[in-house]
Amino acid sequence: MRTSKSVRHPLREIVYRFNDPIWVADTAIRTVTTVWDRFSPSTFAGLYRKIRSHTMCSNARLRALFHGVEYVVRHDVAGDLVECGCARGGSAVLMALTPRHLGTHRPLWVFDTFEGLPAPTSNDPDFEIADLFTGTCLGDIAEVRHLFERLGVAEGVHLVKGLFQNTLPAAEIQEIALLHIDGDWYESVKTCLESLYDRVTPGGVIQFDDYGYWQGARKAVDEFFEFRAIRADLRRIDYSGRSFVKPLCDH
Ligand SMILES: C[S@@+](CC[C@H](N)C(=O)[O-])C[C@H]1O[C@@H](n2cnc3c(N)ncnc32)[C@H](O)[C@@H]1O
Repeated sequence: MRTSKSVRHPLREIVYRFNDPIWVADTAIRTVTTVWDRFSPSTFAGLYRKIRSHTMCSNARLRALFHGVEYVVRHDVAGDLVECGCARGGSAVLMALTPRHLGTHRPLWVFDTFEGLPAPTSNDPDFEIADLFTGTCLGDIAEVRHLFERLGVAEGVHLVKGLFQNTLPAAEIQEIALLHIDGDWYESVKTCLESLYDRVTPGGVIQFDDYGYWQGARKAVDEFFEFRAIRADLRRIDYSGRSFVKPLCDH
């Protein structure tokens, strides 16, 4: 029997992931917390319910992002909020909703091709699986803008279309309080760090969405910190996500 590519593609990935018992355990926990947050009266759950149908990020990583934004606002860490890789906009909108819930506002920069994932490269060790996703995660820029507008948080939001490699180096961002890197592949994550790390305010937060999921993302992060001789105390969020508070001094 012939199976279509759209069926083979998730099946191949699921078989690949099932070899990792940590992923299996994490998936079970994620299912429970996701169901809980559909009913929970917590502030995070209230915001999560507004955006959950527009995001691929796990519940745990979105919760960490919410707390990260809350942290930089409450501690007056100077700078804008930046997301690299928004797809349909769910996590980016959460980043805009969180300051509003705290009665304040931060400019938000959102970078994406808005044409789906570019191809991975030979620098991605799991290229064969990763390449199945080329062109997926498509978010339409007009729909993302509409989501910000519908939820009343479009003011001060910059949606920047294009490859990170072209848009990030010239972006007019002076200081970053929180940087959310969700670009999946080695070259994408490497570009984000090379272009934006030095603009993150010491004491600011960097959250990596794909560190445990895509091998190229992990490689880019590890290489960057090693090359810059930065002691990277990455905090584990879940199977894939990690967060990091930029030290006051890099060494
Ligand atoms: C997994 S999706 C992001 C998911 C999103 N944060 C959410 O809430 O669902 C990854 C996104 O990164 C974008 N991306 C990856 N590499 C990129 C690059 N080099 N330049 C621009 N966008 C890139 C893709 O277009 C895709 O929309």
